[in-house]
Amino acid sequence: MQRVPEPELMDAPAQARAYAEADFSEPNALFVERALSHLDTTGSGRLLDLGCGPGDICLRFARSLPDWHITGLDAGPNMLALANDALKATGLGARVEFVLSQLPAHPFPHRFDAVVSNSLLHHLPDPMILWEAVVELAAPGAFVQIMDLHRPPDHGTADALVREHAAGEPEILRQDFYNSLLAAWTVEEVAEQLKQAGLDGLSLSRPSDRHWLLQGQVRR
Ligand SMILES: C[S@@+](CC[C@H](N)C(=O)[O-])C[C@H]1O[C@@H](n2cnc3c(N)ncnc32)[C@H](O)[C@@H]1O
Repeated sequence: MQRVPEPELMDAPAQARAYAEADFSEPNALFVERALSHLDTTGSGRLLDLGCGPGDICLRFARSLPDWHITGLDAGPNMLALANDALKATGLGARVEFVLSQLPAHPFPHRFDAVVSNSLLHHLPDPMILWEAVVELAAPGAFVQIMDLHRPPDHGTADALVREHAAGEPEILRQDFYNSLLAAWTVEEVAEQLKQAGLDGLSLSRPSDRHWLLQGQVRR
């Protein structure tokens, strides 16, 4: 099925709020758990989440990595306002910050010990924006974990995935999910992008019927 790009930002107030209120606890917990076995959970470090949205994944990392500093970057001011609201309620403000910036622009003068991203790639007008940010911002030996949707072969399969995984969600989210499946890159396309970026040493897998997952250490 041919790819249908989505608008880059999903920052209309109603859309950002519906996204922040949706229950992503299970996939977000799984995303964090998969990364933790590769990180020094008793040591310290700096973790960057690219396209952090309403910040749930950043807050989960902050709770599991008590001596790490967590930075979330996102281009949506409404999304980041929701992330900052969630942060205020946690008491984690000394170790978590949210930064408003639209990649490829970023304000960081240093690299990070871990770079993660969930569901950003399919929003970008050019996928190399993400891969070049990873190359630029991951320190030598840093752990990288990127996950996103995998574009299904046809519209019928996309419909079936929405029915199976978003049955109880509001219509605005079901529509978002359907559009995101159509905008997603396939694992084969991602493998080509990684080759182009010099990141093909990382390991690419299909952890579910609708995702691909990239994990590994940046060697330079
Ligand atoms: C589907 S949301 C994912 C949010 C979060 N990672 C999660 O898993 O819940 C995609 C996010 O990417 C952000 N985004 C899109 N283009 C961006 C860019 N060029 N730079 C930074 N963030 C961007 C959007 O504002 C949105 O919050």
